Amino acid sequence: MNITQYLTEEHRKCDTYYAEAEKAVNAGDWEKAKELFNTFKEKTLLHFQKEEDVLFPEFERVTGIVMGPTQVMRMEHDQARQLMEEMERALEQKDKDTFLSAGESLMVLLQQHNMKEEQILYPMSDQHLDADRMVEAMGKLGEV
Ligand SMILES: [Fe+2]
Ligand SMILES: [Fe+2]
Repeated sequence: MNITQYLTEEHRKCDTYYAEAEKAVNAGDWEKAKELFNTFKEKTLLHFQKEEDVLFPEFERVTGIVMGPTQVMRMEHDQARQLMEEMERALEQKDKDTFLSAGESLMVLLQQHNMKEEQILYPMSDQHLDADRMVEAMGKLGEV
């Protein structure tokens, strides 16, 4: 399995976790929504961690491209983290509208973010880095 396959699969899983949380919010099942949202948040943060702690530093080291795509990706991760915090607060307050509107913003952000990774950053990583070693190192951080 290469880097592109490994991390693209994680994007798909996170999309599914979000869809499940959103369904529970729409159904007004707040207990279940909290549990499902926690899973989504935890897995998404783990995915970000694999990129920020393993992939991006190696990409920067090997390609010498430090102020490029990896910087943009880190900034977008921060935006996503803020939106997830907003969603968590909305859940606490059982505020469906705020949750769904922040969720919509997050999905648009992540869709564009993931597309850039899947089409540009991951293929470049597969081209320049040791994919087996990267996948193994990311796997050690846990399962998304
Ligand atoms: Fe990312
Ligand atoms: Fe990603």
